[in-house]
Amino acid sequence: MNTNRLSPQMQEALIKQMTKEAHASQIFLSYGCWADVKGYGGIANFLYRHSQEERNHMIKFMRYILDRGGEARVEAIPAPPENPFNLTDAFNKVFEHEVDNTTAIYEIVNLSFEEKDWATWNFMQWFVKEQIEEEKLALELIDKLKIAGGDSASDESLFTLDKALESAPDDVSLPQEATAENPS
Ligand SMILES: [Fe+2]
Ligand SMILES: [Fe+2]
Repeated sequence: MNTNRLSPQMQEALIKQMTKEAHASQIFLSYGCWADVKGYGGIANFLYRHSQEERNHMIKFMRYILDRGGEARVEAIPAPPENPFNLTDAFNKVFEHEVDNTTAIYEIVNLSFEEKDWATWNFMQWFVKEQIEEEKLALELIDKLKIAGGDSASDESLFTLDKALESAPDDVSLPQEATAENPS
């Protein structure tokens, strides 16, 4: 009797995503080290925390594959990319990595739709929502740096930005939660 509730194609797609989340975790860890070396302890802290979130995502995929009777497989994680060359580049790349991950998430949603695998479709909606938050978080980084002066930001404004990111929350609110009293 086949007790695996995932199609072979779906199982492989989910394993691939496990590795992709692990890769994202390594990328943010690596960027965190880069920021730390540059003296931006607050930004580094923010990136380390984000790295941990990506690892949690990997675990969620692992758990789901196993809970559906599938076989989870831990694969080699590609090396993180080159270090960013400045903060603008770093934050732009954080955003790009998130968009790239959203695309990968959408591909699994498409596959679940094609297969009428509604359990996976339902599971994936958590990640669709999560990516709205993650992209917003990355956009906010870009905005904050722009306001601080971008590439020509003064040391003082970078100091303030770094401090702010040290204690910045990991979560942002979803548009669904906005009300007329509290639109932000
Ligand atoms: Fe993720
Ligand atoms: Fe992410």
